[in-house]
Amino acid sequence: MKAIILRTPAGLEHLTRINLADPGAPAYGEIRVRIQASSLNFHDLGVVLGRLPTEDGRIPMSDGAGVVEAVGEGVMDFGVGDSVVSTFFPSWLNGAPTIPDFSTTPGDGVDGYARETVNRPAHWFTLAPRGYSHLEAATLTTAGLTAWRALVVDHPLKAGDTVLVQGTGGVSMFALQFAKQMGAVVIATSSSDDKLEKARELGADHLINYKRDTDWASKVLEFTSGRGVDKVIEVGGPDTLVQSIHSCRVGGHIALIGVLTGIVGQVPTAELMRRQQKLQGLIVGSRSHQIDMVRAINVMGMKPVIDRTFALDDIAEAFRHQAAGKHFGKVCLSI
Ligand SMILES: NC(=O)c1ccc[n+]([C@@H]2O[C@H](COP(=O)([O-])OP(=O)(O)OC[C@H]3O[C@@H](n4cnc5c(N)ncnc54)[C@H](OP(=O)(O)O)[C@@H]3O)[C@@H](O)[C@H]2O)c1
Repeated sequence: MKAIILRTPAGLEHLTRINLADPGAPAYGEIRVRIQASSLNFHDLGVVLGRLPTEDGRIPMSDGAGVVEAVGEGVMDFGVGDSVVSTFFPSWLNGAPTIPDFSTTPGDGVDGYARETVNRPAHWFTLAPRGYSHLEAATLTTAGLTAWRALVVDHPLKAGDTVLVQGTGGVSMFALQFAKQMGAVVIATSSSDDKLEKARELGADHLINYKRDTDWASKVLEFTSGRGVDKVIEVGGPDTLVQSIHSCRVGGHIALIGVLTGIVGQVPTAELMRRQQKLQGLIVGSRSHQIDMVRAINVMGMKPVIDRTFALDDIAEAFRHQAAGKHFGKVCLSI
C-alpha cells in the first residue's frame, strides 16, 4: 500500500513515498476505506513546510475521501461501497468545542490520508454528499466545513444578509457558494482581476481588488450604503482584521478563521466594543456539523470549485502550486 510520509526536518523535499503494510480486516467498530482523494489546505502546507511542528514519519493530509471496502463488527452507520469523507476532529462528535489544538487532527497530530487504504473507527468519517466524486468530497473536511460553520453555526446567516469573503482560496469560495445558495448578497475580494471575474461567475455581487483598493473597507461601506456587512469571513488575520471591523455593521459577526498575514496583531478594542460586533474564533467543526453540511449539500446540489488535481506522487508539486497563490478554490490530490 502506497503512502507519503514527511521526514524531519520538514520541507517539500522531505515528502517521501513509502510502502506500508496492508491494514487487513477492520477491527470491531472500524471501517476499511480505500482513500481515493485528498485536498490541500493552508494548514497542510504549514505542516509540510515545518511551520507547525510534527513527528518524523507523519503521514500528511487532513482531508480524505474514498469508498468503504469492509466494515468491522458493530458498525451500523456504513456499508461496503459507501462513499465517505473524513472528519477534521475525529473525537469531536457533537456539542460545544473542547479541543484547543491539532493534536487529534489527521495529517498533523496523528497520521493523515496521503495513503491508499486506512482502517479507522467508523465515526472518523461521514457519508459524502450524493453524486459527489471522491475529489469533490475531499474538499469538504476542512475548507467546506469551516465555511459552513462560519456561516451557519455560530451566528446563523439569514436570507438577505450581506457577507464579505476575503481572497479566492478554498474556504472563501465555499463561503461564497454557500452564502449565495442561502440567499445572501456577497462581496468578494481578491488580488487578481481574473479571479474576481471567476468569483462573479460563481455569483459574487460586488468585487474588490484588495491590492488596488488598499482601503477596501471604504468600498465595502459604499456597496452597503454605509451600513457594513452582516458577516465577515476573516481569513487574512492581523493585516485584514482592522478593515474587517470597519467593514462589518454594528452588531455584525466576524468569523475569525485565518492566519494568511500572520498570527499576532493589534485589535482596535474600543472600536470593536463601540460597534458591538461579535468576533468569533473557530476551528473547522464537529462531526455533527459535517453531517448537517452534507445533508444541506444533498438538497442544494452545489459542487466545489476545484482548481487543479495532482497525483499523490506529485504531492510536492501540488504544494508548490498552492504556495504560489495562483489557485482559485481548491487544489486536490488523486490517490
Ligand atoms: N480556522 C479554521 O478552521 C480554518 C480552516 C481552514 C483554513 N483556515 C485558514 O484560513 C486561511 C485560508 O485558508 P485556505 O485553505 O482557504 O487557503 P488557500 O486556499 O491557500 O487560499 C489562500 C488565498 O487567500 C487569499 N489571500 C492571501 N492573502 C490575503 C490578504 N491579505 N487578504 C485577502 N485575501 C488574501 C489569496 O486569494 P487571492 O489570490 O484571490 O488574492 C489566496 O489565494 C488560512 O490562513 C488557513 O490557515 C482556517
